Amino acid sequence: MTGTACRVCAAPLRTFLDLGDHPLSSAFLTPAEALDGAGDTVRYRLAAGQCERCALVQLTGDVPYERRPHQGYPYHSSGSAVIREHFRAAGLHLLRTELRGARGALAVEIGRTDGVVLRTLADAGVRPLAFEPSGRCGYGAARVRPDFLTAASAREAVAAEGRARVVYAANTVCDIADLPGLFAGLDELLTADGAFVFEDPYLGEIVRRTAFDQFYDEHRWYFTATSVRALAERYGFRLTGVERLPVHGGQLRYVLTRAGRRRPAPEVAEVLAEEEARGLTAPATLDAFAGRVERVRGDLVALLEALRAAGRTVAGYGATAKSCTVATYCGLGPYLVPYVCDSTPAKQGRVTPGAHIPVRPPAAFAAPYPDYALLFAWNHADEIMAKEQAFRAAGGRWILYVPEVRVV
Ligand code: SAM
Ligand code: TMP
Ligand code: ZN
Repeated sequence: MTGTACRVCAAPLRTFLDLGDHPLSSAFLTPAEALDGAGDTVRYRLAAGQCERCALVQLTGDVPYERRPHQGYPYHSSGSAVIREHFRAAGLHLLRTELRGARGALAVEIGRTDGVVLRTLADAGVRPLAFEPSGRCGYGAARVRPDFLTAASAREAVAAEGRARVVYAANTVCDIADLPGLFAGLDELLTADGAFVFEDPYLGEIVRRTAFDQFYDEHRWYFTATSVRALAERYGFRLTGVERLPVHGGQLRYVLTRAGRRRPAPEVAEVLAEEEARGLTAPATLDAFAGRVERVRGDLVALLEALRAAGRTVAGYGATAKSCTVATYCGLGPYLVPYVCDSTPAKQGRVTPGAHIPVRPPAAFAAPYPDYALLFAWNHADEIMAKEQAFRAAGGRWILYVPEVRVV
């Protein structure tokens, strides 16, 4: 389904990016499914537009949640030591801020937590609860509601547990189609002074780094402080806090509280002013971004073709959802990238969506090392390069394509 109207305020959208037709980014197939062609027939148009009224950047096409391959949903964030530490720090931060002196209070996390935040809170005496519609979650099953957070599911939770002092979400709000439903749920669930704290990829960093691979089916919204402020106000909340986070290529953490309860922290005005000054939501900025995306595609394909012609071997590293966007948009397949190594057991032995590049465990990387490794998990570059020092020592080179194509 494609639309030209903002899915929040119904004003016209201006499309600035069109990456073509793509498969679902989490549709990893068995080799047999790839051969018989039945496994990844779902395609959607990967294009993004900006609302002319509320400035929210969003996919123009929609892949309904029900059409996602959830049973095999392969994502798990705890594969990264850096991310585990990030979530532990997020929990400690909540304990120092929203949950200060709140022993026994209820805290909710929505969206497939791997359990680190909630365990950190529980260790300090906070009552943890998770909402995850697939039911698959790294926290104790007894504390997980297999539901979207909506007004109805929130009412049930409140009847059983009381209201929550904080609701936290990472990498989840950017994927929630039903934002009115989410805010109705927050209104039911949060105490009068409660806060909704969420973090997602930041459009400001996506544009700065030309990180076009952040665009895929499970990222419907590409937030800025400017658009989140408008969104919050639409639903009776206010943007009262904002924090820059280094993970996943640069994120913002937003704090929303009910209108009239708190003054915004000074950082909110700072980030809003910076977005204004750099013209982050100006059409020319987004058009220039789209122009750089095309250049990256040309440079990457040219490099991979030249390496192949010169008889060099290449492997991918990190079968990320982002890699699905890169492979599909750039037309990469096993011809240019014969295999990709990834630490996620559920992806190993399968092939990537659309491009059908075989996924192998990291142990296969050294057997033998390729001459070049295309780092699809560039957001984990420090961690992966540290782990794979022997590759460089053996003469191997990394290929990066964010913010531009280069060999290091
Ligand atoms: N929080 C984890 C992290 O940051 O690594 C994983 C986030 S995962 C990308 C997003 C999850 O949000 C999916 O598992 C999806 O099922 C869930 N989700 C989507 N809409 C939701 C909603 N309204 N309430 C709760 N969970 C939702
Ligand atoms: P993400 O960018 O969505 O977090 O996905 C990272 C992918 O990279 C995930 O499939 C796991 C993989 N990965 C490795 O193979 N080795 C690593 O050391 C790390 C951190 C991630
Ligand atoms: Zn709008």
